[in-house]
Amino acid sequence: IPGVDVFDVIVIGGGPAGYVAAIRAAQLGFKTACVDAFERGGKASLGGTCLNVGCIPSKAMLDSSERFEMVNHELSEHGILVDSAKLDLAKMLARKEAVVDKMSGGVTYLFKKNKVTSLHGLGRLVRQDQGGWVVAVGDQEVAAKHVIVATGSSPRELPLAPFGGHVVDNAGALAFEQVPDRLGVIGAGVIGVELGSVWRRLGADVTVLEALPGFLMTADPAVSREALKQFQKQGLKFSFGVKIQEVTQDVAGVKVTYQDGDKTVTAEFDKLVVAIGRVPHTKGLGAQEVGLELDERGFVKTDAHYRTNLPNVYAIGDVIGGAMLAHKAEEEGVAVAEMIAGQAGHVNYEVIPWVIYTSPEIAWAGLTEGQAKERGLDVRVGQFPFSANGRAAGHGDTRGFVKVVADAKTDRILGVHMVGPNVSELIGEAVTVMEFAGSSEDLARTVHAHPTLSEVVKEAALGVEKRTIHM
Ligand code: FAD
Ligand code: NAI
Repeated sequence: IPGVDVFDVIVIGGGPAGYVAAIRAAQLGFKTACVDAFERGGKASLGGTCLNVGCIPSKAMLDSSERFEMVNHELSEHGILVDSAKLDLAKMLARKEAVVDKMSGGVTYLFKKNKVTSLHGLGRLVRQDQGGWVVAVGDQEVAAKHVIVATGSSPRELPLAPFGGHVVDNAGALAFEQVPDRLGVIGAGVIGVELGSVWRRLGADVTVLEALPGFLMTADPAVSREALKQFQKQGLKFSFGVKIQEVTQDVAGVKVTYQDGDKTVTAEFDKLVVAIGRVPHTKGLGAQEVGLELDERGFVKTDAHYRTNLPNVYAIGDVIGGAMLAHKAEEEGVAVAEMIAGQAGHVNYEVIPWVIYTSPEIAWAGLTEGQAKERGLDVRVGQFPFSANGRAAGHGDTRGFVKVVADAKTDRILGVHMVGPNVSELIGEAVTVMEFAGSSEDLARTVHAHPTLSEVVKEAALGVEKRTIHM
């Protein structure tokens, strides 16, 4: 195509789905470009939602706020007496930004290393020309045989409480310049509990308002119950089954009126975080103009090989739906590049870990006991508490348990569910065993180092055969 830079693969979107797809495509020998529009502080910043305003900064703030809480409330138990910690929020936020800068710079480095051309701006599908796709980036045009759409998702807006002023989304909730005295959160989902925890630890009075009658309803009920009990003990306030009726704001703050059972309640907050899920992002992509098919909820429609209705146009990550998780997006990035190269890329959707980075942490993979039964499977269950584990006792954190759900006939592990210290790391072992279609006996007979938290996983697996040693 005259006057146009031609690539083998153009990826639109530089989040976990897009940047990983671009790197893998380049590794496979494709001349690859990645177009990304994200800006932070007025500058291009690769890594998408996850690196810039999601996974990475939220975990940095969870870590910092947990240390703050530890100094103020937990160190004395270890015989370490410290005068109460003072908060330098500006420094904490600057550290978070530095972590993001470093990780985003890492993606820029990886692009250079793998010879991925990085283009900044909105990428728009324009037309098919001589068997290739022309993509506009600002007033530049580039072309490629294959295009991978990885444009991610954006926060869902509550029509009664549009973002702006004191009503913020995830990005706003990671950047309050002062700790709000009273923080309202609409949505007791993953963002609600993670960011609610951050600001509670830093001193806010946090109230979480949730439409559903229960808490974390996709998790194992025993896990959700234990987590809710711990969060309430920490002082997070929850109201379930509420219906938001009116949200108004002035210079001083936000007023939320909601129906809670037969009561109408009006609550006043300094800030309100709305975290009620995320919607696919296809704005500016030119989807309608080129006839890219979306489903009724706006997700790009794909087949099992990430192919859209348009020839040689693929889509991956949050924009195609399913679990809106960075690691799911990354795996799809690898798989689609390998498929384009004629290889057998594959993502095992049966074993995707979910992790919530609160205190205690929550993690699971596979089926809950209830889900397995709904599929008509007979199950055996083993459960073991952190309270019977020496390492957890040493840490001074014995909350929670691990639960292993296995098929009663074959003993294959169907699901592992955890709430407790460091379970974000412990779930990795469970996922590996499940990926290899392992049994509870495989896990139970594996030597686990002593004393470690991982012994709780082993004991829970032993529990499937009712032969735990330490309980
Ligand atoms: P995104 O990360 O959204 O990236 C899409 C990119 O495409 C963006 O940079 C966007 O600007 C760009 N873009 C969009 N349209 C265009 C266009 N037309 N042209 C050019 N560029 C375009 N997941 C986890 O697994 N673990 C976590 O701990 C976790 N924490 C989270 C915390 C928060 C607060 C939030 C909001 C999300 C969190 N997630 C977490 C979810 C995770 O961020 C997403 O699942 C992940 O970012 C999806 O990756 P993606 O590449 O599909 O989309
Ligand atoms: P979510 O789907 O986890 O939770 C949204 C909650 O809001 C639900 O409980 C829902 O019932 C509730 N809700 C919806 N409408 C409501 C209304 N009108 N009033 C009151 N409550 C309402 O979504 P969230 O927390 O916004 O996070 C978005 C996604 O980002 C997550 O689903 C997850 O995929 C990803 N994420 C992952 C993290 C992790 O892996 N640790 C951390 C943060 C986000």
